[in-house]
Amino acid sequence: MANILLLNGPNLNLLGSREPDIYGHETLTDVEASVRTVLENARHSLRAEQSNREYELIDWVHDARDDHAAIIINPGAFTHTSIALLDAFNAYEGFVFEVHISNVHKRESFRHHSYIGLRADGIIVGCGVQGYELAARRVVTLLSQTD
Ligand code: DQA
Repeated sequence: MANILLLNGPNLNLLGSREPDIYGHETLTDVEASVRTVLENARHSLRAEQSNREYELIDWVHDARDDHAAIIINPGAFTHTSIALLDAFNAYEGFVFEVHISNVHKRESFRHHSYIGLRADGIIVGCGVQGYELAARRVVTLLSQTD
């Protein structure tokens, strides 16, 4: 059994009502519930956090160094701007999966670059909110291989 951390960055608290043509109608509560189901069915536990503040996300990555085997993160717009968040992930040794609900590569060019992608073990893009569940399944597979 392992602890997994799910992080969502800025504006993702508005999922379900924010630009639903891009991000869909499901809420962050729905997302967290589906990830929790996947992980708990595999006897892992989930801590889920969301923040609009860069420093808070960084602090949670630091906390996870002690006792979390994997982090799944949608860093929102910090994906494209935050060297500080990349540095935090570079100091973290567990698995890292980056999720983007939309296909960022079909959107504005400033969304095409990801700092976190320089560290992530995998990136899931453009699969809607199902991407979070896919990331959780991948984490379960990897953890079963490291038992
Ligand atoms: C996003 C894509 C980012 O470019 C954007 O700033 C977001 C959401 C996504 O899930 O598609 O806030 O990470």
